Amino acid sequence: MKRTQSPSATRLPVGETSDRFLKACRRQKVDRLPVWMMRQAGRYLPEYREIRSRHSFLDMCRTPELAARVTLQPIERLGVDAAILFSDILVPVAAMGVPLRFEEGRGPVLGRVVRDRSDVGKLSVPDPAKDLGFVLEAIRILRKELGGRVPLIGFAGLPFTLASYIVEGGKSGDFARLKGMMADDPAAFSALLDRLATVTSAYIRAQVEAGAQAIQLFDTWAGILPPEDYERSVLPHTLKVLEGFPRDRAPVIHYGGDCRRLLPVLKKLPVDVLSIDHRTPLDEAAAAVGPGFALQGNLDPESLLRPAAELEAAVADVVRRGRSAAAHIFNLGHGILPSTSPDAAKALIAAVHRLGRRDA
Ligand code: CP3
Repeated sequence: MKRTQSPSATRLPVGETSDRFLKACRRQKVDRLPVWMMRQAGRYLPEYREIRSRHSFLDMCRTPELAARVTLQPIERLGVDAAILFSDILVPVAAMGVPLRFEEGRGPVLGRVVRDRSDVGKLSVPDPAKDLGFVLEAIRILRKELGGRVPLIGFAGLPFTLASYIVEGGKSGDFARLKGMMADDPAAFSALLDRLATVTSAYIRAQVEAGAQAIQLFDTWAGILPPEDYERSVLPHTLKVLEGFPRDRAPVIHYGGDCRRLLPVLKKLPVDVLSIDHRTPLDEAAAAVGPGFALQGNLDPESLLRPAAELEAAVADVVRRGRSAAAHIFNLGHGILPSTSPDAAKALIAAVHRLGRRDA
């Protein structure tokens, strides 16, 4: 196959191609444990901060060449087994007509909140090709630049987690408004999640059409709900996102935050991989969901701030517990912290390579 001769392609490590990640998603045998890290392109990397000092976060997301460039940074530096598109789960929410900005130290701030049924009706349903074309273009650039060396993961937020930002106006401490809407105006809550499911469903299909080779779906806040509420009010909308999705073309990973109690319900999801956060040990998760899923995770991101020997022991523990799963993809339990040193990230990848050898 002919390689593209772009400058960033020539900077990538040469020689090896990795299909371990996609194989493990499908629970096939691999020569060693695949590894990547949530938020692997981000502020802990000086080369990210250099670009970020000249552009706002959203401008980076909306400029395909910049998004592609930062996506490649951890591939070049760390030797991870997958690339994840640089973007944010709230980018399509902005395309629904909700003003969005990111504030230093505060995170996302949404300029208009949804409180009732009529607010829901005012949210537009974007056409991915037209309104989110910059994301699709970044994917096309990346497939060329990666030249098959590692697969590219696309992603989206799931309706419940997106709704939490839309109803609370940003990151919330107690989710009082969201829970209030769920309890007092279930029709408006359901209409909101239904609209978000329509948008997300079209968005992830468009990402696959553009070249994404796997899709990770984030439900960071799902764990705030008791299983009965989750199953009744959230699960149907997640199922709608996945209805008819071509999993044979791109395996699907579900990430749920703090999901120990939800595992018996998450078992019902038509997905290939369950990504588990660091609060639930992987052997326990494997016992709860059975052999039908690969598991991804779940090193505590704080472990990367500890002395080398402690990091190594924590990695070994995750690798050992992961052996209980039908297949394992090593990752963090949540995004890498901005205060992480790039050398610690490198040591983590090296430790997984060493400890995760398989006699395939
Ligand atoms: O994993 C990757 O490298 C891909 C890129 C990615 C980002 N956000 C980049 C980002 C992904 C997959 C996300 C997902 C995302 N975004 C989630 C779900 C996963 C999770 O972390 O729970 C959520 C809830 C968001 C919303 C969001 N975006 C928040 C709450 C924040 C502020 C927190 C923070 O770290 O500043 C963001 C900002 C954000 N998203 C940054 C990055 C690199 C930092 C932006 C900056 O440079 O200032």
